[in-house]
Amino acid sequence: FTAQMDVRDTEKGTYPHFMLKEIDEQPFVMRKIIQKYQDENNHLKLDGDIRRAMQTCDRVYIIAAGTSYHAGLVGKQFIEKLSNIPVEVHVASEFSYNMPLLSDRPLFVFISQSGETADSRSVLVQIKEMGHPALTITNVPGSTLSREADYTLNLHAGPEIAVASTKAYTAQMAVLAILAVDTARAKEIALDFDPMQELAIAANAMESLTDQKETFDELVRDNFGTTRNAFFIGRSTDYFVCLEGALKLKEISYIQAEGFAGGELKHGTLALIEEDTPVIALATQENVNDSIRSNVQEVAARGANAMVISMHGLEQDTDAFVIPHVHELLTPLVGVVPMQLLAYYAALHRGCDVDKPRNLAKSVTVE
Ligand code: G6P
Repeated sequence: FTAQMDVRDTEKGTYPHFMLKEIDEQPFVMRKIIQKYQDENNHLKLDGDIRRAMQTCDRVYIIAAGTSYHAGLVGKQFIEKLSNIPVEVHVASEFSYNMPLLSDRPLFVFISQSGETADSRSVLVQIKEMGHPALTITNVPGSTLSREADYTLNLHAGPEIAVASTKAYTAQMAVLAILAVDTARAKEIALDFDPMQELAIAANAMESLTDQKETFDELVRDNFGTTRNAFFIGRSTDYFVCLEGALKLKEISYIQAEGFAGGELKHGTLALIEEDTPVIALATQENVNDSIRSNVQEVAARGANAMVISMHGLEQDTDAFVIPHVHELLTPLVGVVPMQLLAYYAALHRGCDVDKPRNLAKSVTVE
């Protein structure tokens, strides 16, 4: 497969759009990451300097923009839950206005598909002047953020051409999970989570979703109509995925979209629900399944076209789509795929330029 991807990765081949091709590549990217970060004895293979940097820091500061920021929100959970290090996640453009009080031994982690985002670079320059170590997680080793940081982790996602990021997002989360487990092992924290095994299961689950594209096409046809807005609701980890789902939809279909925490519904957004407003609810986390479903009832009672995307084991008869069961830490990697496909078909049906949405750039090199 590796050779095939290398030949074809800058061409659309039989795909109508790069975005659809890149959505489909996600299972293969997962398998490539497993292969790249595992040695012949099935041990994690990470640069010893990165392991030491993680082991010796007392707090991780994740800096990122856009979709990479959303991956950072999930990465915080991996690092805190698995390796027991506190993590803050900051939007790059906001960081210097109100710089947080830094811990004694901070480690800065820059997440950037392109490695060129100017806002992230300006934080990197600033913290390097202060003498702090930095790790860049990027799809482009040799990019500015990779060269100027002390360490780099490669996403191995292959070139991402569509402006809307898909495979880089899932690759970022996969690499963050591996980093968190590697750190936990170095700190001799006992885990009952095998990242490579669970990522392989997630890859298969992703593949089963990309094999069912027409379902999402139909969901869009049946529920989106000519709507001007749409909402994504979730709780806990699902909330972070909803932020990404809303970003995908707005950037390529120009439907005004908002992702928010289910519990915030009654504090404002409920006022915007009208007859036929599409509301996509993600329900993959067992501990919040009941509460998110009562939010779904609240919007449905006000006329919304509510679509629940749940996970096998938590599903109900009325759910619009059920994703295969994966480890609860990795549900974002799989839960985002339906959202990417919904955004794709919404943009397609509206005649939008899927790969090159108006006013947006793939790599934002100005502050
Ligand atoms: C632009 C792209 C987004 C991306 C963001 C951050 O807005 O259109 O897809 O998430 O920049 O880019 P980076 O390369 O730093 O991940």
